[in-house]
Amino acid sequence: MTAQAGEPPSRGSLAVGPRISGRIAALQTRLDRTDISALLVTHLPTVVYLTGFTGSAGMVLVTRDGAMLIVDSRYVTAATRLLATFARTVAIGLEPVQSSYEQTVVMLLDRLGPAMRSRVVGIESAHMTVAQHDWLVQALAASGTTVQSTTNLVEDGRAVKDAHELDTLRDAGLRLSSVMTQALRELRPGRSEREVAADIDRAMARAGFERPAFETIVAAGGNTALPHARPSARLLAVGDLVLLDFGGRLEGYCVDMTRVASLGPPTVEFTAWNDAVREAHAAALSVVRDGVAAVEVDAAARRALEHRGLGDAFTHGTGHGLGIEVHEAPRIGQGRTSMETEADARLRVGMVCTIEPGVYVPPRGGIRLEDDLVVTKTGYELLTNVSRDLHVV
Ligand code: GLY
Ligand code: MN
Repeated sequence: MTAQAGEPPSRGSLAVGPRISGRIAALQTRLDRTDISALLVTHLPTVVYLTGFTGSAGMVLVTRDGAMLIVDSRYVTAATRLLATFARTVAIGLEPVQSSYEQTVVMLLDRLGPAMRSRVVGIESAHMTVAQHDWLVQALAASGTTVQSTTNLVEDGRAVKDAHELDTLRDAGLRLSSVMTQALRELRPGRSEREVAADIDRAMARAGFERPAFETIVAAGGNTALPHARPSARLLAVGDLVLLDFGGRLEGYCVDMTRVASLGPPTVEFTAWNDAVREAHAAALSVVRDGVAAVEVDAAARRALEHRGLGDAFTHGTGHGLGIEVHEAPRIGQGRTSMETEADARLRVGMVCTIEPGVYVPPRGGIRLEDDLVVTKTGYELLTNVSRDLHVV
């Protein structure tokens, strides 16, 4: 079946609605444990997660016994078709935008008001501007409705992938690995970082990816010391390290990997960096399992690099979750952010994340090795499968 606009392509025969309607039901169960009557979802990736709607704007209002997808006129036809696939699973309705998204939300809440158990509306505090929040608070005050901040009510569910999501991510990991193998093999002196990045983007499209998950990174020579270098006109030359970090989005899900090559025989220092990062990568993997604190995974990678005298050269976190967004929960780094609870900060079976330690020694260069994995009860399943040796071309 061909996907309609606003609907992600679907693996297998199950239509979008029946496959994902359990997500709204799970959120409603979580809402039942709060005094919130309705949650306004404004973060687009979460709108996609709950409804399958993939337009460039949209909101969802989830109540305890239903949900409304709010879209503007550009998407009414596509959203109507999409929601028809939910018909026999959850009650999800369509609310076309009248004058503005915010005003539509207020009108909808006024209409639902009498049926709501409490006059408390939850908002995603990490995904609403202060201006939007203040406007809503004021506009809802007249009806006695209050606005309550929430964090991670949906993200907690999003972080653990279902079987369909895992199949998609497994397929994506294999495809990305093939693109990486080919890209490493085709590196040649005289080509610019930008040309190599364009070749990689074309290879990802040929491999079936809808689009790159982020701007492809190709860094040569001293540019490898910049963790997030942007491809430049610099030409690759014999003696360079070349770092390739790219990701693709397949059927709405992102994968991401990094490898490094040496053009010509590597120096002793380059080989030592790669060995150290490979050890850090292995050390991180060795502690991944259900229930482990994400900070422990990060600490294992960090200890391995400290042991090699490269602790200060590891300047970022060890990994991040993958899914509808290329950076999502869980975050594998040092400490916790204000958005994370103790429970959020642990890996659980079915979470998908990267492991990507690196060392950066400006101006000489750097190495990062990045793979994607699924957390299992006793360890992990790798989704990417390219050798972590320093590739010599
Ligand atoms: N691999 C690119 C990133 O994680 O930002
Ligand atoms: Mn990454």
